[in-house]
Amino acid sequence: MDASLAAYLNDLHRRGREHDAPLADRLLRLRNMTPDAAGLISLLIRAQGSSHVLEIGTSNGYSAIWFADAVRDTGGRLTTVETLADRADAARRHLAGAGVAAHAEVLHADGADVLAAAGDATVDLVVLDAERPAYPGYLELLRRVLTPRGVIAVDNAVSHAAQLEGFRALLEEDDAFAVHLQPVGDGVLTAVRVG
Ligand SMILES: C[S@@+](CC[C@H](N)C(=O)[O-])C[C@H]1O[C@@H](n2cnc3c(N)ncnc32)[C@H](O)[C@@H]1O
Repeated sequence: MDASLAAYLNDLHRRGREHDAPLADRLLRLRNMTPDAAGLISLLIRAQGSSHVLEIGTSNGYSAIWFADAVRDTGGRLTTVETLADRADAARRHLAGAGVAAHAEVLHADGADVLAAAGDATVDLVVLDAERPAYPGYLELLRRVLTPRGVIAVDNAVSHAAQLEGFRALLEEDDAFAVHLQPVGDGVLTAVRVG
């Protein structure tokens, strides 16, 4: 990553923390993922050579900038989905400010609807960073849309382990996935499609 993009991301992350600090209501917080988690997922994108990455839960676009930079290297594209219009707008502004907007599309939509509309075996890597109780309901859709060797990366798997217990168990019971918890940042649960 070049120095100017790293500086842009550092500044955006710092401003996100300052925004969130006084807010008691978590839904009002931007809740950007940690740089370490975003960096790990970016590494997975580059190692996989992902053509299509789908992020559910854009917020103001912090992690999307990381992933757009990674798909710039792989020649792929990022779709990132956010239910709140003002956040989707902020993400578009930030992706443009970071110089990576050409590699990303921000959808103001519900992630479940975007998953349902995606074609079979069309997504190489899905990042889940939205409302954790909804994830078990995504599993059938994820199985359908992921390519062979497709990856699911779920943030907050250590910080909110209890909320992810059910989803993690579903993935671990499923022979179609090889699952590993990466204790990086707030914890990134990774599942690779093997069947
Ligand atoms: C933890 S934040 C995402 C942080 C972002 N990935 C980052 O690192 O900058 C979760 C976001 O998901 C959005 N969200 C919640 N449910 C959603 C859904 N079903 N589809 C799309 N976005 C959703 C919320 O509005 C919120 O902005």
